[in-house]
Amino acid sequence: MVLKKLPFLLNKEVNLIANLSSVSALLKEVFDFFWVGFYIVEGERLIVGPYQGPLACLQIPYGKGVCGKSWELKESIVVSDVQLYEGHISCNPDSRSEIVVPVLDINGEVAVVLDIDSNRLNGFDDVDSMYLEQIGKNIQPFL
Ligand code: SME
Repeated sequence: MVLKKLPFLLNKEVNLIANLSSVSALLKEVFDFFWVGFYIVEGERLIVGPYQGPLACLQIPYGKGVCGKSWELKESIVVSDVQLYEGHISCNPDSRSEIVVPVLDINGEVAVVLDIDSNRLNGFDDVDSMYLEQIGKNIQPFL
């Protein structure tokens, strides 16, 4: 449903921030995630972008936390229990599990990461990664 709506939602006439705002709002509305949003690569760190949910950390260094590690590895990461993930960066104590999906530009470099948190353990699995990576592919032309 989200994947069907995306092509109608994403719009080349506006900038990346506007498009990422639409994606985070759509994911929040459809799935009611605890936190859903984007971090955008800027130099050697990620800076928070459009998101829905409680206040979040503003910046994350390359390789740090789940987001920074996903950037480094260029791979999606599913964390079933954030307390068991070494180096997890806690922005909100109610976040219990997490998924991070990197979005690569046409040169194969990570430009943004999509981060989703659940307030339950085991909130995400590999099927979620698969669909969220599809969402990332839809975003790529707008980077
Ligand atoms: N937990 C993330 C930080 C971002 S928040 O979850 C919104 C991490 O470890 O990278």
